[in-house]
Order: sequence, then C-alpha cells, then structure tokens
Amino acid sequence: MNRPIVLKIGGSIITDKSSAVPKALPGTIERIAKEVAGASVSNPLILVHGAGSFGHSLAKQFKLKEQFDAKGLIETHRSVKSLNAMVVDALVSAGVPALPVHPLSCAMLKQGRISDMQTAPIYEMLNRGLVPVLHGDVAMDSMRGADILSGDQIVPYVARKMGAERIGIGSNIDGVLDNEGQNIPVVTPATFDGIRKYIGGSSHTDVTGGMLGKVQELVELAGMSGISSRIFDASAAGSITRFLQGETMGTLIQKNK
Ligand SMILES: Nc1ncnc2c1ncn2[C@@H]1O[C@H](COP(=O)(O)OP(=O)(O)O)[C@@H](O)[C@H]1O
Ligand SMILES: [Mg+2]
Repeated sequence: MNRPIVLKIGGSIITDKSSAVPKALPGTIERIAKEVAGASVSNPLILVHGAGSFGHSLAKQFKLKEQFDAKGLIETHRSVKSLNAMVVDALVSAGVPALPVHPLSCAMLKQGRISDMQTAPIYEMLNRGLVPVLHGDVAMDSMRGADILSGDQIVPYVARKMGAERIGIGSNIDGVLDNEGQNIPVVTPATFDGIRKYIGGSSHTDVTGGMLGKVQELVELAGMSGISSRIFDASAAGSITRFLQGETMGTLIQKNK
C-alpha cells in the first residue's frame, strides 16, 4: 500500500463559525466532496474535518475544557456526529467510498492528549480502498473524565501512526501569515521560534488553539518524523484538487534542511 495522504478540512470551511448555533455550509461540503472524488492520486486518503460551529459553541457553553459534564459531552458528540454524517453523505453521493470514524469511540486521552487510539480499522479501510472520515470530537480522558479532541491533534497522531506521505490542512486563510499579513512559505523547527510571535488563535470561537495550535502540532511532527504538512486556503474552488495534485500553495511545514 502507498503511504497515505492525510487531509484536514477546517471547521471554518464547512461550517459558519460565526454562528452561535450549528450551521453547516452544504454547498461547500458538496464542492469539497466533488474535488476529492475527481482527484487522481494513487495514495490512500484519510480525511479529518473540524467541528466549527457544531463543536466549539457547545464546548464553550458546557465549559468542557474546565469540567466534566455528561450532558455537554453527549450533546457535543451528537452535534459533531451530525456534521460528520453530512460530510460522509456528500462524499458517498460524489462517488467516494467514505466511512465515518468517530474518535470518541476509538481514542483515549490523558490530560487532553491522545494516549491511545485504535487505528487497525483505519488501516484495513485504506487497504480496501475506503476513505475513513474522522473529525474533531469529544473523547474520554483518564484524568479529566472527558475532554475535547481537536482535529488538529488527530491529524499528526494518525499521520505518524499510519506513516503518512504528507499532510494537508485546509483552513480559511492562505497559510501562516507574518506581522504584515504576508504568507510565510516555509516553516521549520529551526525557524518556528522566530515566527511564533506572529501566530495567534482563531478569529472565531475555537477552543482548540486556532492557527498556533495547528503549527505547533505540525512543527513537532516534522521534527520528529520528517512528515511535512501544507496549510492552505481551502475556501477557493479547486483548492483541494490543487493540494492533492501536489501544487505549491500556502505554507509548507517541514523538517530542518
Ligand atoms: N499568523 C497567522 N497566520 C494565519 N492565521 C492566523 C495567524 N494568527 C491567527 N490566525 C487565525 O487562525 C485562524 C485559523 O484557525 P481556525 O480558526 O482554528 O481555523 P480552522 O477552522 O481551519 O481550524 C485564521 O482564520 C486566523 O484568524
Ligand atoms: Mg480550529
């Protein structure tokens, strides 16, 4: 089996993140599904999507980062699961053999970090030409009871465990920007310390760290395993196709030269 590509679609792309109630963007979900269906790549594909307004507002309402709340846990999972069903349905309608994988059911956390995740089903799906679709979720935590599991944490974990060839992070911005709003084409573990002061959280309700959260995870992964990631603007038509074809776009995060 070829090494897989891990592609994350931000909650900022498939939902209206400024909405206080869950609001999906079905037109965008359909466009992305069609781009995935039409891509001609020989690598197996693992998809991960963010929770956007299906997760972050509920997590905030029930203070899930601060306390265990059974009702909040249940309602947040039900909400992100409904978004995942929309994404999977759109993919299947477009001809992609997609299946849902809910992190709540296969991942264990310790102090908010994945301590264990069952990836054998994902491996077997890839082996059979299927496309697993994971998502930002809530998950059980051996110290805290439960916590939020961000898609941005799932991506490097799965990429490393499955020996991914490369990673794509489709967000609502043209990669990592500097203090003048200019795109930074390449970030490495060696340059990250000088750049991190320009990188902030999210402009919307996002309880999992926004851009800084992503870059931190991916810089660490590049340093540790050599797997590179590209953060790109997935809001434009054709962007997913271009990423899958291997075009230079957004910001490349890679190991030191
Ligand atoms: N230096 C930076 N470069 C790019 N984005 C940044 C930077 N600092 C903060 N951000 C914010 O991070 C956001 C992307 O993170 P987030 O809202 O969590 O998106 P997603 O839904 O894709 O996870 C951008 O829209 C931007 O508002
Ligand atoms: Mg986010």
